[in-house]
Amino acid sequence: MNRIFSGVQPTGNLHLGNYLGAVRNWVRLQNDYECIFCIVDMHAITLWQEPAELKAHTREVAAAMLAAGVDAKKHILFVQSQNHDHAQLAWIFNCVARIGWLNRMTQFKDKAGKHRENASVGLFAYPNLMSADILAYKATHVPVGEDQKQHLELARDTAQKFNGDYGVEFFPLPEPLILGAASRVMSLRDGQKKMSKSDESDYSRINMTDDAATIELKLRKAKTDPLPLPETAAELAQRPEAANLLGIWAALSDSTLEAAVARFAGQPFSAFKKELADLAVAVLAPINAEMKRYLADPAEIDAILRDGASRARAISSPIIAQIEDIVGFLRA
Ligand code: TYM
Repeated sequence: MNRIFSGVQPTGNLHLGNYLGAVRNWVRLQNDYECIFCIVDMHAITLWQEPAELKAHTREVAAAMLAAGVDAKKHILFVQSQNHDHAQLAWIFNCVARIGWLNRMTQFKDKAGKHRENASVGLFAYPNLMSADILAYKATHVPVGEDQKQHLELARDTAQKFNGDYGVEFFPLPEPLILGAASRVMSLRDGQKKMSKSDESDYSRINMTDDAATIELKLRKAKTDPLPLPETAAELAQRPEAANLLGIWAALSDSTLEAAVARFAGQPFSAFKKELADLAVAVLAPINAEMKRYLADPAEIDAILRDGASRARAISSPIIAQIEDIVGFLRA
């Protein structure tokens, strides 16, 4: 059976990168897979989060996912900390994965920066919790943006080492699904930097909560180069900002980068940006409106998430019981 697991951190609002790189693909995959979608609050606290903001962001991310089309009845949407099986398996994986593997994780290097000794232990062990998220459900496929590829390779290595160490064929090796023309959306201020929730400048990203006027303004101000749009896709290698904006257009219009290049070849950025803004507003405005509707009733969101957690636990708890037996824990 093919089962999908994927997650998103409630460290802020979702942005266009999260939507095009992940959430939109999740919604489409719901037709072909059994899906489990998780708001990973335990991952979020690997960096400091104000408690009241963490709660608010958790509900906001849930609302954005529901508004974007995640079907919480047919599939599962829940909050990570409401299923303790993730923490239980993460500890076991802390004892399977090697320090050398974690030392190679580029995300840890980026997030810890120069203050490595001062980073939380949780930030270092972050990938093991992510492996546990996926493997507590024996998920086979994991739809993510490009930036999560290295973490998924680690999850596969961990699954393989567990199977080898204990002489079992227990865990499947989960496959990443990196889909669409925008699996790596870049900052609107710097075409070499990933669009991210943590960028200081709000002009670097389009948030799922931005209204039409803000989306237009941010795209109008987006960094470009002085040339007209390129005639061929090959030129994009030297023109990161053009590549990024054309990639966003391609993803929003469900076409390809090549089609976007052909359509806007030789045009000035000003005309293209206007079309891009109209398209972004047309796609995001209905989601934005639906999100507001969900957020007006936080108790309803909490009820959906609680129901999701109880269905998630029903899948993970027999799997965790088997893992504990394999490892040699006496069952309570
Ligand atoms: P997070 O919260 O950073 O991002 C959520 C999803 O959005 C994708 N994404 C992007 N895609 C394209 N362009 C961008 N600029 C961009 N920024 C983010 C991410 O690739 C991701 O798919 N560690 C994960 C959360 C996680 C997880 C998991 C994912 C925890 N456990 C298990 C999959 C399976 C993270 O921090 O995602």
